[in-house]
Amino acid sequence: MTGQPTVLLGVTGGIAAYKSAELLRGLQKAGMDVRVIMTDAATRFVAPLTFETLSGHAVHTGDLLRADSTIAHIEEGNAADLFVIAPLTANTLAKMANGLADNLLTATYLAYSGTVVAAPSMNTNMWNHPATQRNVATLREQGVFVVEPGAGELACGVYGSGRMAEPDSIVAEVKHRLQVVRKTDLRGMRVAITAGGTREPIDAVRYMGNRSSGKMGVALARAAFDRGASVDLIKANIDLPRAPGVREHDTPTARAMYRKVMDLLPDIDILFMAAAVADYQAIDTAAGKMGKSQDHLSVRLEPTADILCEVATERRDGQFIVGFAAEFGPEGLSRSREKLKRKNLDMIVFNDISRSDIGFNSDYNEVIILTPGGESKVGRAPKETVAEIILDHTAREVRARRGEFLPVT
Ligand code: CTP
Repeated sequence: MTGQPTVLLGVTGGIAAYKSAELLRGLQKAGMDVRVIMTDAATRFVAPLTFETLSGHAVHTGDLLRADSTIAHIEEGNAADLFVIAPLTANTLAKMANGLADNLLTATYLAYSGTVVAAPSMNTNMWNHPATQRNVATLREQGVFVVEPGAGELACGVYGSGRMAEPDSIVAEVKHRLQVVRKTDLRGMRVAITAGGTREPIDAVRYMGNRSSGKMGVALARAAFDRGASVDLIKANIDLPRAPGVREHDTPTARAMYRKVMDLLPDIDILFMAAAVADYQAIDTAAGKMGKSQDHLSVRLEPTADILCEVATERRDGQFIVGFAAEFGPEGLSRSREKLKRKNLDMIVFNDISRSDIGFNSDYNEVIILTPGGESKVGRAPKETVAEIILDHTAREVRARRGEFLPVT
């Protein structure tokens, strides 16, 4: 890909089609030349003229028999660097999964050999139906990157999942897949990231732990390295492939993690505390394996050192410290605001762990990024995408403090 990337935007006939205009603008703002292809059903929601005006290109619509010079249009589509279909209705999704090519959009999909990103949008029951779920799985097997719908109030008045992902999240995914995110905004910076969940031993074989997978921290480490940073990943009990180019340190317990963070701190420009650090540890760890000799067993616990609080007192000027707040329920947002202040952080990333479709052990996350100057919501998206957005904010803040301003992307 040289110069400005070309993106083909496919619009199908769902109510979310009106959001595709905003998506188109977002893609353009990210530096892409966008061409639009619509199904006939989509043209009943939004006039092709809207997309024609915004994109500056003719919009192709219709079925294969009607469309003039169909082959030429399909070939034009094939020349695009990426094909994004948003919204993707249950019907077109099913056609794509099964290789049907009964209109210009589905024929273009079948003929297209590049990267495809799709953002489904439909009623909750349709989304949850086993047929749709099977089709989504098939689409993924076909290599399509699915930006999953989020939960919210749908056009039919019910609350549930099926609402198209926010245009911002789709733009971020497209950027990520196109690798226009080949940014170098962290070049020359040393970044440390804690990830995973610490395990506090009770005896030689047992421990208290948590369900953190470390996926968010590893995604941050990979993305920070790609953007030019020198990266240390301080990891607790992570079972994930190594991130290329990243220095890894195993710190299975809160104590070990504390030592490693404090050890690296003087040389770090940015610290992301993404790990789920145990708040308590056993006072006495039994030697060997405890037997089952009592009716009741008490394990005496003491608080672990709060790493972020220690960092807050030890940090030097110019260091950028990011905390993570995994809170239960939406009221966690106000607790995150409070933590941002109390722990003297530059940024905190809040996610709601009461939800099973994001966060712990999921490949997806939905977060709110809080800084002393503002708050920004990142809709449900793959953790890799969320990591890129967190780094966008971080790089911007860090550079701004140094008096260097990055263009808004
Ligand atoms: N954290 C830390 N050291 C600990 C515990 C947590 O540095 N011993 C960090 C986490 O990595 C995370 C942030 O603190 O970035 C928030 O974790 P949380 O457990 O929610 O913080 P607490 O201060 O323990 O919050 P609360 O007072 O609500 O329990």
